[in-house]
Amino acid sequence: MDVFDNQNDLIAAVAAAKKADKRIGFVPTMGALHDGHLSLVNMGRREADFVVVSIFVNPTQFAPDEDFEAYPRDTERDISILEGAKVDCAYLPSVDEIYPNGVASNLQAGEAAKGLESEFRPHFFDGVCSVVHRLFEIVQPDVAIFGKKDYQQLMVVREMVKAQRLDIEILGAPIVRDVHGLALSSRNAYLSDAELKVARRLNLILKHDRPTPNAILKAGFDKVDYIEERWGRRLCAAWIGKTRLIDNVPAS
Ligand code: PAF
Repeated sequence: MDVFDNQNDLIAAVAAAKKADKRIGFVPTMGALHDGHLSLVNMGRREADFVVVSIFVNPTQFAPDEDFEAYPRDTERDISILEGAKVDCAYLPSVDEIYPNGVASNLQAGEAAKGLESEFRPHFFDGVCSVVHRLFEIVQPDVAIFGKKDYQQLMVVREMVKAQRLDIEILGAPIVRDVHGLALSSRNAYLSDAELKVARRLNLILKHDRPTPNAILKAGFDKVDYIEERWGRRLCAAWIGKTRLIDNVPAS
C-alpha cells in the first residue's frame, strides 16, 4: 500500500491506475478506524479496482466547543489496518493542502442538511461538503462509499454531488453494530464501561414502535437532541455524559 501525504503523489498514482483502466473507489475517513470503516473499504474493493482511503480530521466540521483536539488519532494503527485490508493507497493530507486559502467552509450544504443534525451542529454539513468536495477534486474517484450510520450525511453528500454535477457514484454501506447492536463509531472510544452499557440500549429503543425521548432518557442517556423520522428511517442523536451518539433504523 502506498501512503501519501501530498496530492501530487496521489494524483500520479490514481492517473496510473486510470490509465490501466481501473475503476477508482474512494473511502473518506477521519481515522480512528474500526470495523465500520473496514466494511466501507470492503465495499470499495468490491465496487472498484483501485481503492483510496483518506484520513483527515476535518477542522471545518467541528465547532470551537466540539472535540476536534480530542478526536481519537492513531495514524500508525490506522495505516496497519488499511494495509491488512488491502487498500491500494492511503492519503493523509495536511490542513494546508485541503484548505490552501485558509480553514473555512467554502460550500453550502443543500436541503438535505436542514433540521436534524443541523439544529444542533449548524456548521457541520457545510464543513463536510467542503472537505468531501475538495477530496473528490484531488482523488477523482468513480465511486465513493459512505456509511449509513451517518444517514443525513449520506443524503447531503448525494445532494452535493448532484448539485455540483460530479460524475461520482455515491454508495451507502450498511451500519456495522457490535453484538449488542451498538452502531460502531470512533466516538464509542470515549465511553466508560458503565456508559457503554447505556449506549447499547439505544438501538433497542429505536426499534420500538414510536419511541419517545423520555424512553431514551430513562435508559440512562443524559440528553436527547432529536428523534425523528425522515427518508424512511428513524434517526436519533443523544448524549451520554460528554459523548454524543447518533444512530438510525428503518422507520416502522
Ligand atoms: O463521516 C466522516 O468520517 C466524515 O464526516 C467525513 C465524510 C470523512 C468527512 O470529513
